[in-house]
Amino acid sequence: MSRITFALAKGRLAKKTLEILEKINIRPLDLTDDSRKLVFNSSDDKYTFFLAKPSDVPTYVDYGVADIGIVGLDTILEEGRDLYECLDLNVGKCKMCIAAYPKKRDLILGNEWIKVATKYPNIASKYFESKNRKVEIIKLNGSVELGPIVGLSDCIVDIVESGKTLKENGLEVIEEICDLSARVIVNKVSIKTKYEEISKILKGMEAP
Ligand code: PRP
Repeated sequence: MSRITFALAKGRLAKKTLEILEKINIRPLDLTDDSRKLVFNSSDDKYTFFLAKPSDVPTYVDYGVADIGIVGLDTILEEGRDLYECLDLNVGKCKMCIAAYPKKRDLILGNEWIKVATKYPNIASKYFESKNRKVEIIKLNGSVELGPIVGLSDCIVDIVESGKTLKENGLEVIEEICDLSARVIVNKVSIKTKYEEISKILKGMEAP
């Protein structure tokens, strides 16, 4: 049996991902909340796991150093790599949205140039382009809600999960772009060369 390597996204999806793997008896050995270790083997030594920054998960899978990646659809869309996206895990559900101060609604929905702050420049530019709207995209790396607050941008394109961050900063959703959730991605060569092992894992993860 070939060894299967997983690239797992650190952060908000990590706990849910480990629960799903646990369900199919795949357990990274010694992985604890406060651990700084990055690579783990499973207790039965059949699997290896990397913990990576979410935006790097598609890269590891694309290059084939990980056979399987578990990451949010937001990251998959933003990275735009040629991967086999095969399973919606139905966890980590949230939405990609345009958000702004309520008083900016007409400006955002109108035809004037607007400034958009986002961690997702590719998703944002594609969306506005598809609507023929003129925008200047300003890339930020986190806490993008600061964009409109400090006057850097008119709105943001970002993920909204509970809505708490928007609410606490006086912002609201102006438009929903798409639904998001955690997905399983597979390297296009691995799906052929390790078909049996990977199919078994996918079936297990898919089961209710
Ligand atoms: C994400 C996102 C929002 C927030 C949304 O940020 O960029 O800021 O979570 O969640 P909510 O609707 O439940 O409030 P994250 O916590 O990943 O950190 P970041 O701002 O540093 O990117």
